[in-house]
Amino acid sequence: MTTFTRIDDGETPVIEVDALKKLSKIDPMIYGGFTEHMGRCIYGGIYDPGNPLSDENGFRTDVIKALRELNIPVIRYPGGNFVATYHWLDGVGPRDQRPSRPELAWLGTETNQFGTDEFMRWLDALGEGREQRVEPYICLNMGTGTLDEALAWVEYCNGTRDTHYANLRRRHGREEPYRVRYWALGNEVWGPWQVEQATKEDYARKAFQWAKALRLLDPDIVLVLCGQDGTSSWDHHVLHECVGSVDMHSIHIYTAAKDHLRNVTAPLSAERAIQAAAALIDVARIENKVPPSKPPTRICFDEWNVWDPERARGDEGAEERYTLSDALAVAVWLNVFVRQSRHLGMANIAQTVNVISPLMTSRDGVTRQTTWWPLLLFSKYMRGWTLGCHVRCGSYRGETQPAWLQGVLEEGAPWLDVSASVDDGGMVSMVVVNISETQDLEAEIRGIKAPVKVYHITGPRADSVNVEDKQEVAVEKSQWNGEGKAVFTKLSMTMLRWQS
Ligand code: AHR
Repeated sequence: MTTFTRIDDGETPVIEVDALKKLSKIDPMIYGGFTEHMGRCIYGGIYDPGNPLSDENGFRTDVIKALRELNIPVIRYPGGNFVATYHWLDGVGPRDQRPSRPELAWLGTETNQFGTDEFMRWLDALGEGREQRVEPYICLNMGTGTLDEALAWVEYCNGTRDTHYANLRRRHGREEPYRVRYWALGNEVWGPWQVEQATKEDYARKAFQWAKALRLLDPDIVLVLCGQDGTSSWDHHVLHECVGSVDMHSIHIYTAAKDHLRNVTAPLSAERAIQAAAALIDVARIENKVPPSKPPTRICFDEWNVWDPERARGDEGAEERYTLSDALAVAVWLNVFVRQSRHLGMANIAQTVNVISPLMTSRDGVTRQTTWWPLLLFSKYMRGWTLGCHVRCGSYRGETQPAWLQGVLEEGAPWLDVSASVDDGGMVSMVVVNISETQDLEAEIRGIKAPVKVYHITGPRADSVNVEDKQEVAVEKSQWNGEGKAVFTKLSMTMLRWQS
């Protein structure tokens, strides 16, 4: 949590941080990813057989190498909207016998050349050499899918007995169970774009029954309820009906605005959404008399990002060309997650390759977009515990996206958006995003200790981009002796790291 006092612009900002004020554990799962059968995410992104950069499985090795830098803990699959008409059995077994099907979320053709076994193999490749594997997180089809089909999928992945689908997996060459722990009860079932959209009442009834059956089959799974944006009557109702049957509550938010200040402050709406969802969870647990011994029901923010479908390219309006403004918005998103870590069990940037993604592929290689850099620094260093800090600075008090945000930000959005963490070795990391387009800000930092490692992300303009032949935004590293004031240049994210 970060507290904030507004001062008049012109006075010296002050940031106070105390390495002893540990607030809550940061779950490493907040740095999760998401790969959907959508646009060029799977086909032409992670799976590209015949490309010289691909291995014998058809996996792009340049993509795997790049993504390893992010140390991703978990990846959600196979959708998204795609999952509402997906039949997992189409995507297993000999490739030449897999059916091609019309796909109704993005109106393409699904060849099923990449399915559950390929996904699991790809995660193995991604996690190679790491202590902990990359966890799979599978979303169940609660559109055209049946409970029988969902149970069969869990059995295929996790079954250890001499049973039909466990044996099918064995016949497909995988003796050991995949041990998939994380399962989502549908995706955005409330959305009018969804095949088999449901009312909150119908969804809650069904999710309750599915959860019961899935747990009878495998008591070790972690079940994620399909929420909306954390603030709606859908969230309220489904939590009330199902809180005792699930482990996490999913919410989705994408932010974007044409002008920089609305774009960069929009992720603060997600902070409010997390607080609102956490309150709804508390109410649902109290109303249902969920025993306090049952672990907290945490939020699974399993789709988040900056996304403006109007400006994005590609058939699905999802190939974003991210700007410096977007990179700073992603930094504010991640500051929000660190500040609200107490409520979060997982978060997944949507998505991991090509589709609204920090990483883009061409036939010849990969490009790290502007948003790659904040994600990389957070995933590397903002781990351990959230630290309490206090920021005194001026604030932006103009229009916001969404408009209601202006009403809840009583003191405005601070020009310096801050979060801080301390890891188990006592290393403090503090991120300061100067959202201003015009003013460099000097701040007194209380609680800092030299020597300080400095990582700085900026670029020439708010609309600077990283494309194949032009890299305008990157990380610059330096050292600071901690004396005097720190300078946070306009349009920048700075990470300061020191040993406490
Ligand atoms: O991530 C892209 C799409 O956005 C997902 O398929 C859907 O769940 C959301 O609306």
